[in-house]
Amino acid sequence: MKNMTYKNRRINLKDSLPMNSVLLIPGADVQFRNADSAFPFRQESSFYYFSGFCEPSSLIAIVNNKDGIQSIIFVPPKDKLKEIWDGYRAGPIGAVNEFLFDKAFDNTQIDIMLPDILHGSEQVLYPIGKKHGFDQKVIDWTTAAASKDRHSKSLNIIDATSLIGNSRLIKDEHEISLIKKACDISAEAHIAAMKSVKDGDSEQYIESMYIHEFSKRGGRFPAYIPIVAGGENACVLHYVENNQILKGSDLLLVDAGCEYEMYAADITRTFPVSGKFSEEQLKIYEVVLDAMNAAIESVKEGNSIMEPQEISEKVITEGLVKIGLLDGDPEELHKAGAYKDFYMHKIGHWLGLDVHDAGDYMEGDEFMKFKPGMITTIEPGIYISSSMNVDDKWKGIGVRIEDDILVTKDGNENLTKKVPSDPHEIESLMS
Ligand code: GLY
Ligand code: MN
Ligand code: MN
Repeated sequence: MKNMTYKNRRINLKDSLPMNSVLLIPGADVQFRNADSAFPFRQESSFYYFSGFCEPSSLIAIVNNKDGIQSIIFVPPKDKLKEIWDGYRAGPIGAVNEFLFDKAFDNTQIDIMLPDILHGSEQVLYPIGKKHGFDQKVIDWTTAAASKDRHSKSLNIIDATSLIGNSRLIKDEHEISLIKKACDISAEAHIAAMKSVKDGDSEQYIESMYIHEFSKRGGRFPAYIPIVAGGENACVLHYVENNQILKGSDLLLVDAGCEYEMYAADITRTFPVSGKFSEEQLKIYEVVLDAMNAAIESVKEGNSIMEPQEISEKVITEGLVKIGLLDGDPEELHKAGAYKDFYMHKIGHWLGLDVHDAGDYMEGDEFMKFKPGMITTIEPGIYISSSMNVDDKWKGIGVRIEDDILVTKDGNENLTKKVPSDPHEIESLMS
């Protein structure tokens, strides 16, 4: 049964939770776009990871003591009238029967019950600073718990961000299958856009095509606001206005991925609106693609996550020297960070329930090493805005290519390779 997966994740926390501790994981609240018009509800990812439960304003408390692990959840109460307007609520009984929590209560009881749950523990752990207002709540419950008995041990508040995030770093088979589905859907949307785009289309129209292609395949929401950036707009790294008209001479950079059953894909492709790269566009593109391929090759078990970063910096530096955009010895230029004027972001990030997924990048003083089951994006880029001091022919070219890479036992699997990144394959797809 699917909900056993979530229960097992809670049980497995016994290996990382201190003895006599309580871990609190708050769920998301409904967010409003204007007046009483709400955004579609999206559960907080870690809360979902440990519960599979998708109702707002809920709270998980996982108690670890000599009696073992006990999972408690606070959920919206059953309410006939509210359920007529907003739909089914599991209520505490459903939370136990369907979602396999040991105990469940109405969320109206949190302030009354939490001090009792915390009382007698030595540590309360939760993700500090992540949910508005929650820090003060924890302080209030902790203070109330401590005041129950002035002779009890002190109750320390500990940040659980790393503990929770790192437990999400290695994806299980079920998660991998959902991420693969998100990647397949997103790849198909990119292919559809490549086939259809033409001179005079608006960025917004292209964006709508992605949303449509995602949704009709089951990915109702994008995992993040798509970046649909024609020409120089590609040099604005988080460009999301998507309101300009595309010109035949533009490159179009689209960074778009869907969310499928809560899991994200994250793909960027850069392709010529006309279907044919210009000479300069192709030169820049090939440098980025070389960096991409070299970086992907270095994603394997035991390698530091810094390897793809460094390799991409070196290949981009060498490429920029070769085409005349940097002048000097590539090794010296790399050391001096000269590539940063053109390539100013990092090579990638973890991918999972969140597009920038939870989990640390350092282990102590060292960068994390890749392990099978981790998924990282690889996304080098070169951006030449018109304000840069370069020959005019290069100005306004922005290229990023981004794939999602699963670390496997014998190397890696590129989950997004279905959408071509080779420029000649792109041109033939678009012809
Ligand atoms: N789409 C967000 C990113 O590439 O990091
Ligand atoms: Mn990314
Ligand atoms: Mn992206």
